Amino acid sequence: MSPIITGDFPQRRLRRLRANDFSRRLVAENSLTVNDLIYPVFIVEGKNVSEPITSMPNVNRMSVDVLLKEAEQVAKLGIPVLSLFPAIDHSKKSLLAEESYNEDGLVPRAVRALKKAFPELGILTDIALDPYTIHGQDGIIDDSGYVQNDITVETLIRQAMVHAQAGVDIIAPSDMMDGRIGGIRAELEDSGFVNTQIMAYSAKYASTFYGPFRDAVGSATNIKGGNKKTYQLNPANSREALQEVYQDLQEGADMVMVKPGMPYLDILRQVKDTFAVPTFAYQVSGEYAMLMAAINNGWLTEAAIMESLLCFKRAGADGILTYFAKQIAEQLQAGK
Ligand code: PBG
Repeated sequence: MSPIITGDFPQRRLRRLRANDFSRRLVAENSLTVNDLIYPVFIVEGKNVSEPITSMPNVNRMSVDVLLKEAEQVAKLGIPVLSLFPAIDHSKKSLLAEESYNEDGLVPRAVRALKKAFPELGILTDIALDPYTIHGQDGIIDDSGYVQNDITVETLIRQAMVHAQAGVDIIAPSDMMDGRIGGIRAELEDSGFVNTQIMAYSAKYASTFYGPFRDAVGSATNIKGGNKKTYQLNPANSREALQEVYQDLQEGADMVMVKPGMPYLDILRQVKDTFAVPTFAYQVSGEYAMLMAAINNGWLTEAAIMESLLCFKRAGADGILTYFAKQIAEQLQAGK
């Protein structure tokens, strides 16, 4: 008997099934398909605009006409959902964020154009006031700068209703105010929008990984030294995230989300195991920027992208919001 025999070896050689491509595929526990992808895009006013975002290589802010061309490709690739993030002209920002519920605002116009041209493509809109406030906070502040919960929720409800009337499929509140899911759900029901879905950003952390996004929508310089710690979750906590998810489900969320993604896979797993509801992860702008920086420097290969997305599936995600969605869908279609 060899001294290295421990446990079941050599009766069980775990490397046996890893020896061939066919058996690696056969025993794979998880896989990534195009059906798992949600593609976030940034939109601006204008015609024929496609402007780069310095901290997010290969991601552009697009005017609605350019977005329609992009959406055609997205629909052809079979990506189920496109999510819209507006960069609002500074002149339209205010303390009370009135532009957020303008029926003819950028987002409702984009939603109407997309639903008309591609009725089968799911459209998700973000519900939060940060693109519309002059200070870049997600709500309406008092004199001390504190974001006031209940009057913010009233504005979020108005914003959500305008999006619903424009025909959006999924409303995604990302503001982390208490009670907003219940408020929006009640108003949707009262107005007959019984099938408008809500994907709640339930476990949304006060994260530095949103930095490039704030550049993209132009809320970064406004926020300055400020932060969102009085409403977004403390990165030190996990049980509190479960309370947030519980509350959002009680209030009428159909789907929940954990955000950011990669540093929060433990939260994703706990949420999925605890509630067994459709659970999504957001691979946020900072995660995108890190991967792109490393790839563009030759420090990581592009395969890191697919690996990162597969790991979300393993951790329990039903789908992933990722700026890589189009690129990955193309890769999956090509069978790579
Ligand atoms: C708005 C919102 C943010 C993101 C999505 N919706 C930024 C924030 O909360 O500051 C971040 C997305 C990303 O970083 O990719 N409330």
